[in-house]
Amino acid sequence: MEKQDIRICCSLGDEPARIVRSKDYDRLFILTDENTELHSLPLLKEALQDIPFTPVSIPAGDLHKNIDTLSSVWTALSQGGASRKSLLLNLGGGMVTDLGGFAAATFKRGIRYANLPTTLLSMVDAAVGGKTGINFCGLKNEVGAFCPADTVLICTQFLHTLDRRNLASGYAEMLKHGLISTRAHWAELLKRQPGDTSDAGQLTRLIEESVRIKERIVSQDPYEKGLRKALNLGHTVGHAFESFTFHTDHPALHGYAVAWGLVCELYLSARLTGFPTEALHQTTRFIHEHWGHLTFSCDDYPALYSLMLHDKKNTGGTINFTLLRDIGDIALNQTAGRDLIYEALDYYRETCE
Ligand code: GLY
Repeated sequence: MEKQDIRICCSLGDEPARIVRSKDYDRLFILTDENTELHSLPLLKEALQDIPFTPVSIPAGDLHKNIDTLSSVWTALSQGGASRKSLLLNLGGGMVTDLGGFAAATFKRGIRYANLPTTLLSMVDAAVGGKTGINFCGLKNEVGAFCPADTVLICTQFLHTLDRRNLASGYAEMLKHGLISTRAHWAELLKRQPGDTSDAGQLTRLIEESVRIKERIVSQDPYEKGLRKALNLGHTVGHAFESFTFHTDHPALHGYAVAWGLVCELYLSARLTGFPTEALHQTTRFIHEHWGHLTFSCDDYPALYSLMLHDKKNTGGTINFTLLRDIGDIALNQTAGRDLIYEALDYYRETCE
């Protein structure tokens, strides 16, 4: 997979115009959802100066990350005269960058695209690394392609439009990057409030470090044959928590579910691969303090276990975990039996008290 050009800035300036003018693109299409069309497109329009573009807008929310929305983007590209030399610029959160990336990967067998992520979660995760796709048959990201963006422009100016919960959601993926990288980065993340944007300079630097951690891993294993699975830390239990809350009155934001999943998977790491208990307890306290508690009882364990069994990362009927031997010391392809997983769920609930 080709390397993505990742740029990080605090305000848009003339960066979007430079990106569009830097290559031989013949037409520019800008994909937004109904929120970013309202709140972010005006900023981008100003930054693009007089560069003409065709706007394409889709409904917001993961519910619309489907084949019908994808088809509407293909239609807009086709009717707008997009060619293999056109650029699709995706302006939005992970839903827009995933779906837009897949539309670009498939239209005329592939046109070029750029991502301009507007949420912290998409800045540090979804918009980087070339995974594109849509949900299909009730399964998340069931159909997609690995296809790198030409450019990812991360502009922290957009973070000021986010509420505390969405900032905390993205910060959970940053914490995961801390855990799989170095003790120094992990410790620095533990010193901040996840929803705090007051020190924009420090936050931009931490985001940059987070993105570089992901970029280093993706460049070594773009197609997730091995090392890239490190990015799944917290996600096996996290996805089960996310699905578990999906049909309730309070569906969890992705990053919240990942944070809660990290508590359980660090517990498994302590039990199976020697992760230090002091780091387990410190991280657990930090997560409980900032991401609140998911309420469930031991009657829910079989349902959660069954959701983990259906995780698409599994092979041969065993649940696949990425665990840690220590901070930055990754143990891939670990497995745990039902009793130990129940013990990890016990640990989660006991430490909530
Ligand atoms: N979100 C995990 C990955 O990009 O591999």
